[in-house]
Amino acid sequence: MSNAGLEGVVIGQSRICFIDGDKGDLIYAGYDIDDLARNTSFEEVVYLLWHDRLPKQSELDELSSQLEAEREVSDEILDLLRTFPDGAHPMAALRTAVSALGMHDANAEDNSDEANRTKALSILAKMPTLIAAADRLRKGKDPVAPKAGLNTAANFLYMLNGEEADDVRVRTMDASLVLHAEHGMNASTFSARVTAATLADIYSAIVSAIGTLKGPSHGGANSRVMDMLREIDESGQDPKEWVRDALDRKQRIMGFGHRVYRAVDPRATVLRELADQIMAGSQDTRWLDLSDKVREVMAEEMEQRGKKIYPNVDFFSASVYTTLGIDQDLFTTIFAMSRVAGWTAHLFEQYADNRLIRPRAEYVGERNRTVEPIDQR
Ligand code: ACO
Repeated sequence: MSNAGLEGVVIGQSRICFIDGDKGDLIYAGYDIDDLARNTSFEEVVYLLWHDRLPKQSELDELSSQLEAEREVSDEILDLLRTFPDGAHPMAALRTAVSALGMHDANAEDNSDEANRTKALSILAKMPTLIAAADRLRKGKDPVAPKAGLNTAANFLYMLNGEEADDVRVRTMDASLVLHAEHGMNASTFSARVTAATLADIYSAIVSAIGTLKGPSHGGANSRVMDMLREIDESGQDPKEWVRDALDRKQRIMGFGHRVYRAVDPRATVLRELADQIMAGSQDTRWLDLSDKVREVMAEEMEQRGKKIYPNVDFFSASVYTTLGIDQDLFTTIFAMSRVAGWTAHLFEQYADNRLIRPRAEYVGERNRTVEPIDQR
């Protein structure tokens, strides 16, 4: 009777994303993810998700300049970031900062489509600025203001490091943003929709989504993959043996398995190729080499154990981001600054055709009790 995990439950119609988990297909608004990752930029994908079609050059230019105009965050928000305690998780910092953006927006409570599109653009433009500023402040450095003329990927790397990244790095980051932008009714998107379905404001919905993405069974897995790779590296054990031992202990191998895919996650395939490009300019291929060994032994073991468990998008993003010089605890924030494109696209759909989302639980508790006076319990 109960369906813990809502597996296979269809909660509504959407034009945004189609996934065939058995074939390993991921389609954004009719376009295959492989095609998009190779041939479009993150900004084009944002336009696609928000308008159900790819932009013409003039439309892309307009979106790019609107994003550029919205990137800066106010001094009040930067001052708030300065109050965050040492050791705060970057996803907690992002969650709190986006919530504060809502308090400073006079139009936060306007749920019209026009107002929500304006707010979505502002949130999407500001999230990379918030992530980079919070990271620099926790390291005792001043935030770097956004720079005109750079796209989202280039600008993020610039604000993070204080210098412009080379083309390969920018292209890798850009493709990674395309790959993470949307994924159907995943847990964080669902939680955003649940929040919006109460007619709460778009900031509240995005804060719900950020909190949901943080978990290690969802977006938090990319950071846990790196923990695992470091653990294997430090153990001095043969990686294949390490994985076999972990599986025998019923431990989950981070970056593998997916609720929807019973085939290779197509995003993992593209990321693996991107990894080759970025490693070509890097001295240190150790994390990618180790990832390949883990993938190999998982393929052998899963076949023997008769399980359809393959690498997911988080598996190779860990070694790619590490090679890009990005701190491990920032990985999930990068996922968030991309997925906000999908979250907001779903929110437009939700507000346009809303019904309160309110499932039920099967009651298995006690019945027919009467209250005894407190001194007799
Ligand atoms: N390593 C080893 N075994 C696994 C893994 C894994 N990563 N994932 C699933 N399994 C096994 C389970 O142990 C279970 O085996 P059993 O039937 O013998 O008990 C079986 O596969 C089914 O597992 P479920 O937990 O029912 O699968 P579910 O759909 O609930 O889990 C999840 C999906 C949470 C993603 C899971 O695969 C997992 O924990 N993976 C590791 C974390 C991870 O990489 N998360 C990122 C997901 S992608 C994303 O959010 C971007």
